[in-house]
Amino acid sequence: MQTPSGHPVAPAPGARLVVLASGGGSNLAALLAAHEDPAYGARVVGVVSDRPGAGALDLAREAGVASVVVAPADFADRDAWNEGVAEAVAVFRPDWVVLAGFMRILAPSFLARFPARVINTHPALLPSFPGAHGVRDALAYGVRQTGCTVHVVDDGVDTGPIVAQTAVPVLDGDDESSLHERIKVAERALLVETVGRVARDGLVVEGRRTRIG
Ligand code: GRF
Repeated sequence: MQTPSGHPVAPAPGARLVVLASGGGSNLAALLAAHEDPAYGARVVGVVSDRPGAGALDLAREAGVASVVVAPADFADRDAWNEGVAEAVAVFRPDWVVLAGFMRILAPSFLARFPARVINTHPALLPSFPGAHGVRDALAYGVRQTGCTVHVVDDGVDTGPIVAQTAVPVLDGDDESSLHERIKVAERALLVETVGRVARDGLVVEGRRTRIG
């Protein structure tokens, strides 16, 4: 790569992360803060959202990171949308695809494009409380400990091999919102730490067991 005046520019170091997000993007914000440090070993090169109004898109713009919306309404059916997401992600040539509050299920055909390279964060201690309401379900069940999980995405819903987890206690008087806010603090730290380690050292998946490095 060269600047217009002809000076060579070294490509930025680190693994290429593409982040998929549907919501406010606090997990994305944490990754964007981490990638400022070259020693982190990974940088967000693209953000993809299914929702035109997602706060994550504003965060990407503010950070100077390319973003794209792939909204289901713009596609004939779910297969076509999946293909659209896969194309949008592939353009960024990711080393790792990070689902950070991406509230849709990606088809096996998407995962086949990025085998064992798609990582998700979930706000519960899997395998307990998978699905879209992990915080609410844990609270309703009455567990005293819940938490967050970073895992490799497979064809199921939040069923892939677990990479890292943090426990978060349920406090008397918690409602879904207060509990989720506390989980999200732990979740951001876990995601940043885990993605960085995976990017720097690699990830081995053997059946249900995973090992970083
Ligand atoms: C996170 O808790 C994520 O695990 C869940 O939704 C939340 C998204 O938060 N699926 P944000 O958009 O990163 O702030």
